Parts: sequence; structure tokens; C-alpha cells
Amino acid sequence: MTARLNVNIDHVATVREARKTTEPSVAAAAVLCEKAGADGITVHLRSDRRHIQDADLDVLRGIVTTYLNVEMAATDEMVAIARRTRPDAVSLVPESPREITTEGGLDVIGNFETVARAAKELSAAGIFVSIFIDPIEDQITAAKDAGAGQIELCTAEYAELTLGARAAHSEGRKKAAAEIERLHNAAIHAQNRGLIVAAGHGLTTRNVGPLAAMPEIAEFNIGHNIISRAIFCGLEEAVREMLAAIGR
Ligand code: PXP
Repeated sequence: MTARLNVNIDHVATVREARKTTEPSVAAAAVLCEKAGADGITVHLRSDRRHIQDADLDVLRGIVTTYLNVEMAATDEMVAIARRTRPDAVSLVPESPREITTEGGLDVIGNFETVARAAKELSAAGIFVSIFIDPIEDQITAAKDAGAGQIELCTAEYAELTLGARAAHSEGRKKAAAEIERLHNAAIHAQNRGLIVAAGHGLTTRNVGPLAAMPEIAEFNIGHNIISRAIFCGLEEAVREMLAAIGR
């Protein structure tokens, strides 16, 4: 089975928010992604609202016909928004005040009560719960215990090792191969515990191949690379390129 692709359209909103204006439209972006074959739309509602806004969630909930996945911190404010807007899934992610993007996975062990409470409230509202974590067995087990139905493995470290010159260097290639093995072992561990396995962060058409080859990975959440490509070739073509890269 090949993995599903949810396209993260945060950076369409990043361009809009750069001018605090009305274009480009995240609604139009979602429609085009679905038309190009995406299996879902992912957005991240951050506490500073630097790209996606609350109103975007309402609009997207009304028009996304495939699958709407909202990434958010496990706070009371965010859980209340999710319970009101009812996305198909919520991905719980860590958030630190000055981060440029999400920095690694959620420490489920260290925040167990908070995460478990959020997962329970979301599940009670009929929202599927995924937790974004590093490929660490104890964190995966904790995610299951906290009530997640899915984990999303953080691929940031792997992605970092595949960037530019590092990818060409034999030491970099060795480290990337080791990280792929770590991700694969984590995916097997998660699947054995009855969790659906997703992966994301920093993935590109150039580095997604080894992950797409893992039968345990059922879903990818990919944004920045698709939106970057879309600037040059259009959003539908960029989505199709990523679908091809994951073997679809
Ligand atoms: N998955 C999670 C949990 C994320 O926080 C992000 C970034 O918002 C992504 C996937 C997508 O990462 P990228 O934009 O690097 O593809």
C-alpha cells in the first residue's frame, strides 16, 4: 500500500500574512491540492497565528472534501478550537515561543498528563488524534498510552542530513542511512503497538524515496517543498510531483 499525502498549505498563508491581505487564498490552494490528487490538507494553527488564522479553519472545514488535519499544541485554547471546528484529525505538536518551525517531536513522556487530557477531549469530540514525535520507542509507547491512534515520526533530522552538500558527502550519506534505519525501527515499533504511522517535516521530492519505500508509513504531511516548487511550476504540478516521488 502506498502512503497517503496530506499537503500542508501553511506557507500559502505565510505569503498572505506577509502583507496582511487576502491573497493568495488558502481555500483555492486546498481545492487545487485536492484536484491534483492530494489525500488531505494539513494546516498548523500556531499560538502566534503567523500563518494560518482561526477563520481559515472555518473556511477549510467547509470546503475540504478529502481529509482535514490540523496541527496544534496541546493547550486548552487549541483543543477548544478543534472541538468547535471539527477537523478530521488533530496532530499534537510541540510549540516553543521563538521557533521558526516545529523543533522536533513532542515530549509525550514529559508532558503526559497534558497530552493525554488533550487526546481524550479530542477523541470525545470524534476527532482522530495523531502525535508528532521523534523516533524513540519510549515516546511511541507513551503516545499510545496517551490515547493517540497515530504517531507522526519527525523526519527533521533525516531531512537536515539530506540537504545540499551534506547529502553528497559520504559521512553525511552514512548518517542519513542510519537515521532512515532509526525511523524504520520506530515505524515497526509503532505499528506493532497498533498505531497508524505517519511521517513529516523537511521532506522533499529528493529525500522522500527511502521513507516512501517503508510499508509501515501510511501518511505523509509535506508542505514547504511543495509550496516552494509551486512558485515555479504551479501548485497542481507541484503536488503531482510529490505524489510521483512517493510512488503514486
Ligand atoms: N508535520 C508536522 C507535525 C509539522 O509541524 C510540519 C511543519 O508545519 C510538517 C509536517 C510539514 O513540514 P514541511 O513544511 O517541512 O514539509
